[in-house]
Amino acid sequence: MTAPRPLIAGNWKMNGLAAALSEARAIAAAVDASPPAARVALCPPATLVARMADALAGTGVAVGGQDCRAEASGAFTGDIAAAMLADAGATMVILGHSERRAGYGETDLLIAAKVEAALTAGLEPIVCVGETLEEREGGRTLAVVTGQVRGSLPAALAGKAFSVAYEPVWAIGTGLTPTLEQIEQVHLAIRSTLMQQFGEHGAGVPILYGGSVKPSNAVEILGLKEVGGALVGGASLKAADFMGIVAGA
Ligand code: 13P
Repeated sequence: MTAPRPLIAGNWKMNGLAAALSEARAIAAAVDASPPAARVALCPPATLVARMADALAGTGVAVGGQDCRAEASGAFTGDIAAAMLADAGATMVILGHSERRAGYGETDLLIAAKVEAALTAGLEPIVCVGETLEEREGGRTLAVVTGQVRGSLPAALAGKAFSVAYEPVWAIGTGLTPTLEQIEQVHLAIRSTLMQQFGEHGAGVPILYGGSVKPSNAVEILGLKEVGGALVGGASLKAADFMGIVAGA
């Protein structure tokens, strides 16, 4: 089985007004001028999804959402359905980010329901998992992460395109990263869990690393055996930084 192309996705989080679309255009221009080994995606705030999808239509850069509601429609003020993201031009969606697990009490069960909603809408989910510093220091990293993988990935993903992003909570936005050995150890544990859940299909699911990825550490992280891409926060906001990471894949 040939390995799938790596995926480098930028998570803009709650950053970006219309003026920031110029960075997205610059990223798309660079990708199209010199097509990279990796697939490239940008996940802007919901307010920019449609405009970014329009701006990047026909380029080599996909657009994704950062979250969706599990229900298809209804009285859920402020929330966004998966079909709305797809309708706005998104083809992917980040689900279960630790900022939503921690800030909104999202459980594995809820995230699995959101994944099913994303699949129904034809979106490719990027499902995030990762341990807190307390869990790592307590020696529970592998149990926590593999538990999140089992709980957040519904059986409906069998045969579907999706990826898992390992993002240690303590490495997000901190400039800290795990050692290469620590990243490799967790990615191997995720791989064997995916294969238990999905059989041979689980062998080809990209496992992204996220947490303080920047141009200076991208090559060594992306070169690790089971690392199939990166989910990039802060360094995805500027085209030059993001392209420095894309070039490392
Ligand atoms: P940083 O790259 O800013 O550490 O954020 C990582 C992240 O949370 C991506 O989803």
